[in-house]
Order: sequence, then C-alpha cells, then structure tokens
Amino acid sequence: MTHETRIAFRVNGQSCQGMAEPRVHLADFLRNQLGLTGTHLGCEHGVCGACTVLIDGVSARSCLTLAVQAEGSEVRTIEGLAGRDGRFNALQQAFHEAHALQCGFCTPGILMSLTEMLETHPEPDEAVVRDVLSGHLCRCTGYQNIVSAALQAIRAVRGGGQA
Ligand code: FES
Ligand code: FES
Repeated sequence: MTHETRIAFRVNGQSCQGMAEPRVHLADFLRNQLGLTGTHLGCEHGVCGACTVLIDGVSARSCLTLAVQAEGSEVRTIEGLAGRDGRFNALQQAFHEAHALQCGFCTPGILMSLTEMLETHPEPDEAVVRDVLSGHLCRCTGYQNIVSAALQAIRAVRGGGQA
C-alpha cells in the first residue's frame, strides 16, 4: 500500500506538481517525475555535490532532501540557468570557454553552488571559489580549470553580465 502525497512547488519559475511517497528524495522527484535529468546523482549520501540544486536561493543536496520538504518553495536546477533563447549565462559560458568540464557529471551541481555564490557573496574571490568547490567532487579535471572558469564568471558578472 502506498501513501502518496501531492507535492507542489515552483521549478525554474514554473509551477509544478506531482504525487510521491513521503520518502522520495527531491533528486528522484525532479528526475523521474519532472524529467529534469540535469540534476545528477552520484554518491546519494551527501558527499559528492553532484545533486546540488537551489531551494529558495540556498544550495541543497537534493539526494538528502525529501521532495515533500520542497513544498511551496522555489527550486532552481541546471535547466534554469540558460536564457529563454537557450543562450548560456555568464557562468556556463565561462565553463565552456575555460574547458572546465570533461565528462560533465559533476558540472550541474558545481554550477548551482557557484550560482549561489555569485548571487549572494559580496566579494567572491579565489579563496571563496575554492571554499565553494570543497563541497564538490570532480573525478576528471583536477579543478584548476573550474577555478579559472569561476573567476572568469565573477569578472563577467561584475562587469555587468548576468550570472
Ligand atoms: S548525489 Fe547528492 S551529494 Fe552525492
Ligand atoms: S568533469 Fe567528470 S567528474 Fe567532473
């Protein structure tokens, strides 16, 4: 017997709803019910950061967050970063130009944490970037190009671009 409950929140500016058991994680709800497979699942116990999304502007591990906990909130995922015309935002463009990804598995989570940094930190610098990245595991890049891309995005945003 299942005990599904209705869950409703906003994702990337759009209202969405679905039915899920209370034990369903937000990552599974996003991927399986809403088809937002850009949110990746790696470790599924809060270590790798691949599943990071923003909930009301704050980064969260969606593998540790129950879907019901997102009720009524504004969730942002990697699918919401590009413009309506599909153009990369400054952060995505910087990752593209700086070759900051290889397999790309870690990338959505990293971009969401860096988005939070760009939107909330008054003076982000390399130390702040490295602190943000300390919550993410990348098995491919060695991190240096990710740091370079983040610093490029900071410069672009400070110059008037959009994160
Ligand atoms: S899948 Fe959530 S932190 Fe690794
Ligand atoms: S680019 Fe492959 S895990 Fe980071």
